[in-house]
Amino acid sequence: MEGAYQVDVDLWYWNHEPNLTPSVLSRALGLMSAEEQRRYEMLDRQEDRRIHAATRLMIRTLLSRHADLKPADWRFGRQETGKPYVANRRWRDISFNLSHTQGMIVAALSRRRSMLGVDVERTAPGPMEKLAPFFVASEELADLACLMSCERERRLLRLWVLKESLIKARGLGLGCDDPKAFAFRSAGEGVPSPALMPASASAVGAASFALFDQGAHVVGLCVIGAANASVAARNFSDVLAVQE
Ligand SMILES: CC(C)(COP(=O)(O)OP(=O)(O)OC[C@H]1O[C@@H](n2cnc3c(N)ncnc32)[C@H](O)[C@@H]1OP(=O)(O)O)[C@@H](O)C(=O)NCCC(=O)NCCS
Repeated sequence: MEGAYQVDVDLWYWNHEPNLTPSVLSRALGLMSAEEQRRYEMLDRQEDRRIHAATRLMIRTLLSRHADLKPADWRFGRQETGKPYVANRRWRDISFNLSHTQGMIVAALSRRRSMLGVDVERTAPGPMEKLAPFFVASEELADLACLMSCERERRLLRLWVLKESLIKARGLGLGCDDPKAFAFRSAGEGVPSPALMPASASAVGAASFALFDQGAHVVGLCVIGAANASVAARNFSDVLAVQE
């Protein structure tokens, strides 16, 4: 596709809770900017505070693997819609996107300036069926109608993470991007992951998608503008273990 390129993406995942010992938490707090500390203080729930601190530790540590800069020295800006980006002038080509939920934080990073989006959700039975009318496109209904209820729940969750990853890659948000405006279809049996392929790519132009199952979680990744994304999934616990 015209203007499309190949991009390498590192997809880091972290089940932070078992690793967020008092010393790791204190390291995370010590790395945060004043703005990040302010956001931390504003969170009421202990669990949200821990996710926030762990996410800052993770993204700052990972960025420092790509550049000659200490974790505490990264600065971030936010687009008007809230999407964060690297603000250090010399390293602005590094792209990233974050997602977190109970029990899992994920970070997608690329050395090349790219429109990345990532979303992680728990695979536990959830409200997918109730939410379906708000995000399932009419083109997706026929595929869904053929599925038994547990497989349907699984498919809905996969559709959701793919769609949210696309929305996040665009940098918009659920408030101004319509998840029903684009559709994925099943690629059929025997087709390697991702088993869902975009059915209306024209809505976004060239884009690459990937789906990963990680224990009790599923992760969707989107790279807009990329004809082909090579994705390496890695566990952030391995990086922490080396540092300790
Ligand atoms: C952006 C959004 C889709 C994230 O979904 P979520 O399930 O709440 O959260 P996730 O865990 O997947 O992702 C959160 C992370 O995504 C990143 N993020 C925030 N806004 C983003 C955006 N617009 N696009 C991409 N990434 C965004 C941030 O890093 C955030 O984590 P942090 O605040 O801890 O740094 C959702 O919050 C949303 O739709 N917000 C409303 C934005 C909006 O509609 N604004 C109006 C625009 S017209």
